[in-house]
Amino acid sequence: MKLQIDNDIHIELLVPAFAERLYGLTNKNRAYLKKWLSWLDLVKTFEDTETFIETAVHQHNNNQATTFAILHRGDLVGVAGFNYIDYQHKWGAIGYWLCAYYTGSGVMTKVVQKLLEYGFVEASLNKIEIRCADKNYKSRAIPERLGFSYEATLRQCEWLYDQHVDHAIYSMLASEYQVSKIS
Ligand SMILES: CC(C)(COP(=O)(O)OP(=O)(O)OC[C@H]1O[C@@H](n2cnc3c(N)ncnc32)[C@H](O)[C@@H]1OP(=O)(O)O)[C@@H](O)C(=O)NCCC(=O)NCCS
Repeated sequence: MKLQIDNDIHIELLVPAFAERLYGLTNKNRAYLKKWLSWLDLVKTFEDTETFIETAVHQHNNNQATTFAILHRGDLVGVAGFNYIDYQHKWGAIGYWLCAYYTGSGVMTKVVQKLLEYGFVEASLNKIEIRCADKNYKSRAIPERLGFSYEATLRQCEWLYDQHVDHAIYSMLASEYQVSKIS
């Protein structure tokens, strides 16, 4: 599955063919990503990246999650998708990361906009959630920019190497997505 976003950017399902590029990108951005992502110490070797991708493929094939590679003019620049999908209750949670070099120009906002279309239109979800560490202001700006509602902050949800962090929860409902598409 390949979804075009604009002339330069598209997303496509993360598959084993991306393993080498994803491992390279992860290593290059390791220090940058570690500030907000707790899985960097779980991905130390190429085989760890292969396992991550195999798990992502398995979860997609079992309707549990859908993970995309983000490509800019053919270069892998990040990963985004539904970390969790519950088709019974029709909701999903979006997660994302971008290599440092491509930040600051709206790439991820456009990618998340496309994920909203995928989630609400293709996957028929009723609710889409984004969880951000409460002090991760760059990440929080994405749901805020796209018109999500802030729901709550949950205390000490995640162990980030040496500290617990709170999570700010944002969500959008299908009815709100329809309205935002019309207006
Ligand atoms: C979270 C993360 C993806 C945000 O990246 P980002 O580049 O700030 O987000 P976007 O790609 O949407 O770009 C937004 C920036 O581009 C600017 N921009 C330029 N053109 C734009 C456009 N057409 N649309 C939206 N924003 C645009 C915005 O003003 C903003 O810049 P600012 O932060 O200086 O105000 C990135 O910081 C990251 O990967 N961090 C590490 C991992 C992480 O924290 N993941 C999230 C865990 S919850």
